[in-house]
Amino acid sequence: MDMLIEKIKSEGVVLSPSVLKVDSFLNHQIDPKLMHEVGRDFADRFSNSGITKILTIESSGIAPAVMAGLHLNVPVVFARKRKSLTLVNDLITSTVYSFTKEETSEISVSKKYLSEKDNVLIIDDFLANGQAALGLADIAEKAGSSIAGIGIVIEKGFLKGGQQLREKGFRVESLAIIDSLENGMISFEKTSENVEELLR
Ligand code: G4P
Repeated sequence: MDMLIEKIKSEGVVLSPSVLKVDSFLNHQIDPKLMHEVGRDFADRFSNSGITKILTIESSGIAPAVMAGLHLNVPVVFARKRKSLTLVNDLITSTVYSFTKEETSEISVSKKYLSEKDNVLIIDDFLANGQAALGLADIAEKAGSSIAGIGIVIEKGFLKGGQQLREKGFRVESLAIIDSLENGMISFEKTSENVEELLR
């Protein structure tokens, strides 16, 4: 995705060799045009997969997930990290450990919105150690849904999450894969799709 790579290059801020700040278009302020294209790209990649529902996690997964849902014409469910006042009964839950934040959180989805009839596409903004994606996959499996794949906006390819998910047999489609954030520089993995943009 040229537009995404261009945006990361121009607005991404390397906070440390393992953390990239993209607050200006993904994690705080959101760029709707970019998200629209992100959603289109996910929809194109999974257009023949028979997706019936998109599953994501609050908060930063919601924007790309909604746009993918718009293009695939399917509903979007987001797992909650906080207990909801109205969402109390019939919950499917899983626990997610964040290596970045060093904390465990319980995530939940109502049974009402996921079932064995669903073929789910999991979407998230970042893939680091893969814990959020695994928690979402666990929820989908507990609901009896099938999982068509996992769509990620930015994968940190130098961490183990992507490899672990792929080794488990999940189809993981990441729109931008970052190889390294060493020395304050963002370097991207070369793919047949982004090679022209990277050479520019
Ligand atoms: P994992 O799910 O792949 O194991 O990731 P991890 O627990 O390490 O990540 C915890 C949170 O930090 C997630 O957001 C994730 O999206 C985010 N994150 C991980 N690496 C980066 C990074 O390099 N840059 C940025 N900007 N975010 C990163 P969250 O806490 O759930 O926040 P939000 O979705 O409410 O915004």
